[in-house]
Amino acid sequence: MQPKLRSKVRCTDREIGEVTRVIVDFLSREVSHIVVGRNGVGTVERQIPASAIQSVTDDVVELRAPSSEWDQFPLFRRDEYVTTNEVEIAHLEDHLHVQPGEVLVPLPELERDVKRRTFFTNLTHSIGVLLALPLVFPVLKYLMKPMYAPFDNRWVKIGKANKIKAEDVGVQFKFKKSVKEAFMPEAEIDKNVWVLKASSAVLEEVYKGKDMEFRDHTGGVIWTNKRDVPYVAYSGKCPHLGCGYKWRNVPKLGRQIFLCPCHLSIYDASGKVLDGPAPRPLDPVPIRVAANGDIEIIDVEYKAGTKVQIRIV
Ligand code: FES
Repeated sequence: MQPKLRSKVRCTDREIGEVTRVIVDFLSREVSHIVVGRNGVGTVERQIPASAIQSVTDDVVELRAPSSEWDQFPLFRRDEYVTTNEVEIAHLEDHLHVQPGEVLVPLPELERDVKRRTFFTNLTHSIGVLLALPLVFPVLKYLMKPMYAPFDNRWVKIGKANKIKAEDVGVQFKFKKSVKEAFMPEAEIDKNVWVLKASSAVLEEVYKGKDMEFRDHTGGVIWTNKRDVPYVAYSGKCPHLGCGYKWRNVPKLGRQIFLCPCHLSIYDASGKVLDGPAPRPLDPVPIRVAANGDIEIIDVEYKAGTKVQIRIV
């Protein structure tokens, strides 16, 4: 005989409550638990496994345990079950002979735990991304290539050394450079550097007794300016915000200087900041002078406005 809804429930010592619901095992379609509402204890219900049932009569379910063990049965959690009206269980009526009422089956574990379900959803998305990566990667690589292109470290011929007539005097050399910005077609732009035939005092200021190394995007050394070579070239861009500057004779100062008209940064022949907002000295670039007097430079550029040099070109 199966427990009936509303049957009295008795422990070994006394009556304890009544059957409020019946829980059915989904696979065996047998009653696996009864839910018992205790007399006079409001809505508190506990679920009792079928194995704890001693006997079932028409209107009484006898338990094997004394009433003192009531608290050891788990509390009934309604949200972990659905009624047999909500799920289709084939031939349930052949197995279950309780009165009509709330007959429950457990919700599948995955349905109970939404976090776990979310985890599986995310897992599915992640697997999708991994599968798509081989297809997307070449496109991303193509799009991002201009951002990570190596610097242009080619030597550029800018003119003859005999254009410089005196020591420690800035002479501007202009040149054209082909540039390719991202996905735009290649274009030629005007650039310039300032070159000095430096005295030993200016060389000492520029190099501070050490040769000067220049590096590519990987950090490898591409060229070293030797501290005893008298030709020094400065990038044509002011380290403050990148304006072009000029070599000027300033009678009031009694000397010649590099003057940037944008925010009036002033530099001496060694590139040292004498005045103005410039955060660092002028930027020397790689230079070499051939035996026939050809001057070549590598057009290195650094980020404007920073104390330290950060190469950008
Ligand atoms: S850009 Fe040269 S001083 Fe500002």
